[in-house]
Amino acid sequence: MSILVTGGAGYIGSHTCVELLNAGYDIVVIDNFSNSKIESLNRIKEITDKEVTFYEVDLLNREAVENVFKKHSIEAVIHFAGLKAVGESVAIPLHYYHNNITGTLILCDVMKQYGVKNLVFSSSATVYGMPERVPISEDFPLGATNPYGRTKLMIEEILRDLYVADNSWSIALLRYFNPIGAHESGRIGEDPNGIPNNLMPFITQVAVGKLKQLSVFGNDYPTVDGSGVRDYIHVVDLAHGHLKALEKVMSANGVEAYNLGTGTGYSVLEIVAAFEKASGVEVPYQIVDRRPGDVAVCYADATKAKNELGWVATRGIEEMCRDSWKWQKNNPNGY
Ligand code: WQD
Repeated sequence: MSILVTGGAGYIGSHTCVELLNAGYDIVVIDNFSNSKIESLNRIKEITDKEVTFYEVDLLNREAVENVFKKHSIEAVIHFAGLKAVGESVAIPLHYYHNNITGTLILCDVMKQYGVKNLVFSSSATVYGMPERVPISEDFPLGATNPYGRTKLMIEEILRDLYVADNSWSIALLRYFNPIGAHESGRIGEDPNGIPNNLMPFITQVAVGKLKQLSVFGNDYPTVDGSGVRDYIHVVDLAHGHLKALEKVMSANGVEAYNLGTGTGYSVLEIVAAFEKASGVEVPYQIVDRRPGDVAVCYADATKAKNELGWVATRGIEEMCRDSWKWQKNNPNGY
């Protein structure tokens, strides 16, 4: 029996594949490499000394998806594949809705056809929209503020409806906060296309000399130093959360959402200082206007994941910064 990992060549997918293989699972990866590189799969083999079966497959190609289920006995699916750039989703919403939602509908229909009803879905804290208070727990009101976030929210609702129609499904909806860091080897990591949207890859590209300076989006928020506060979580902790969720969906039916965060918030300027300390490299920055759509403060209440999955994030901000830097320093141009 194998675990199918869609988007397994991506940042969080590749780190999860490493932990799955280390835990003794057989995996099959499908990826269309639209936002990832095949080299990441070679690195997974290098790190784990295990073979990785993969297919270049786009979820919109139903025949190709079916062929994978024909060839392999799939026990469960971890579904990462999807477009995830907030700004891009505002510019090309139809592409995001088609790619993320139609792709998921095809995946679930093929799973149903082959009797595979264990699913771990890569959701996002962005489904909480503009939370009224923190920490955020899973029962908070949902309301995404951009097309990307709305695809995640709509897919969560689709999966809930799927369970209502057929309660033999077992589904975990994992709401990630802010994943950063990299595998301790420095051989896999975050490799965004073009200019990074997210904070940490922007910082590491400044530190390695690819970018001139960091723009800090606002220092007039009601926070410790005026800059935005987020719940940064080490990508390896996040990967371990997927293994715990996989165990859960393979043992009990139902649909449950879980926050995967540390429960601690750090400001942008605190992250810059922590990175400079961990790397020994100065990160020049300038304060600029707020970025539209940003919230001041966002961090998780991760109690439910601790109680129901037996999962807690263990890696601190120093390790996150150290590992992010090791990846970028060793791979200045990514894969
Ligand atoms: C973090 C903080 C920025 C870049 C996004 C998506 C979310 C999820 C994670 C997919 C904020 C500040 C950033 C920069 C900055 N992705 N910042 N200068 O916006 O919390 O979440 O990524 O699921 O859906 O919305 O992450 O890393 O973009 O920003 O000052 O060049 O860093 O204002 O306070 P965000 P981020």
